[in-house]
Amino acid sequence: MEKTLVIVKPDGVQRGLTGDVLRRLEAKGLKMVGMKMIWIDKELASRHYAIHTGKAFFAGLIDYITSSPVVVAVFEGRAAVQMVRNLAGATDPLAAAPGTIRGDFGLEIGRNIIHGSDSPENAATEIALFFRDEELYEWPRDTERWISEG
Ligand code: RTP
Ligand code: MG
Repeated sequence: MEKTLVIVKPDGVQRGLTGDVLRRLEAKGLKMVGMKMIWIDKELASRHYAIHTGKAFFAGLIDYITSSPVVVAVFEGRAAVQMVRNLAGATDPLAAAPGTIRGDFGLEIGRNIIHGSDSPENAATEIALFFRDEELYEWPRDTERWISEG
C-alpha cells in the first residue's frame, strides 16, 4: 500500500492546527502508520529539501522549517501521495482552492502549514529520513472494510 510523508510545519504547530491537519487526512480514510513531534535541525532540513539547494528561497525555507517543532507522520492508503497533495492544495495558498488545507489556513507560500511528498519514490526516501522501521506500525484497522473495497 502506498505511503507518504506528512509534516505539519512550524506554523501549523504554533497556530494549533496540528489536530485539524491530521483530522482531515484521517477523515479522508488515510491510515496513520507513524507520528511524532521533532525539532528538525539544519542538516536534516537540508537533506529533506536538497532538491531546492541554490534556489532564492532555500535559506528562508531552511530557517522556517527549523524554527520550531514540527509533527511528522506517515499516512498509508490508495494513491496516498496524490491524495495528501490534493488535500494540502497548491504550494502557494493564493492558488490553493478553498477546502484545501493551504486554501483554508494559509496566506503565504513561506507559511504553508503542511508538507506532503511529491512522488512515491521521494516518499520512500523521505520516510527513511524521518522514521526508523520500528517507529512505523502495521496495524489492522477495524473500519477498513468501510473505507476500502478490499
Ligand atoms: P512541500 O515540499 O513543502 O510539501 O511543498 P511543495 O511540494 O508544494 O513545494 P516545493 O516546490 O517542494 O517547495 C517547498 C517549500 O518551499 C517553499 N517555497 N517558497 N518563495 C517561493 O517561491 C517558494 N517556493 C517554494 C514553500 O514553503 C514550499 O512548501
Ligand atoms: Mg515539495
